[in-house]
Amino acid sequence: MSARQRLRVGVLASGTGTNLQAILDRVHGKEAEVVAVGSDKPGAQALGRALKAGIDTGEFPVSAYASREERDLAMAEWLVSRNVELVVLAGYMQLLSAGFLAAFPLRVINVHPALLPAFPGVRAVEQALEYGVKVFGVTVHFVDEGIDSGPIILQQAIELPEAVEPEEVRAALRPIEHDLLTGAVRLIASGAVRPDPSHPRRVLVGGTA
Ligand code: GRF
Repeated sequence: MSARQRLRVGVLASGTGTNLQAILDRVHGKEAEVVAVGSDKPGAQALGRALKAGIDTGEFPVSAYASREERDLAMAEWLVSRNVELVVLAGYMQLLSAGFLAAFPLRVINVHPALLPAFPGVRAVEQALEYGVKVFGVTVHFVDEGIDSGPIILQQAIELPEAVEPEEVRAALRPIEHDLLTGAVRLIASGAVRPDPSHPRRVLVGGTA
């Protein structure tokens, strides 16, 4: 597959960037081309991973703008100027405002460490442990203006009936996150993900409508 045919992906990340690394290792240069990695956190480890892979990076701390909306517009312009077709939130810990989402309709995906609609927002693993669940999981979904509320693309559960520590749950979820997120990027790149015309929230994956 030539670089011209690959899906052009922009990644936003706030933290360590293991999900970004999985994308770089498994789909970058194959089905997709990661052309930009942005962060709201200057110096985030994810940016170092991008630089090491020779990918253009951008820092967008909200403190450098008049508002979150302005920052998001600047970030959207930066991605649009690089002809990004899909934005992947890989541990991006801020909500995206309407102006950003309007630039990428149904073209922003996120990975969340819970089986949505259970435990949206921050501290998802802690929320699940506090509730006392025995089945945990990961969701990859399209992003809308709500908190982890957009249509679901992929989900996977894991039984951890004895889990008590957030870190042990996170360690069990991490490889699932990497599989699901890279899988979703591959599926989108191949055109296998589309909205169900008969249901406003359902996303069809593979097969025929
Ligand atoms: C992941 O747990 C993801 O689900 C959450 O933030 C974390 C990011 O991890 N939204 P990493 O930076 O990709 O290692």
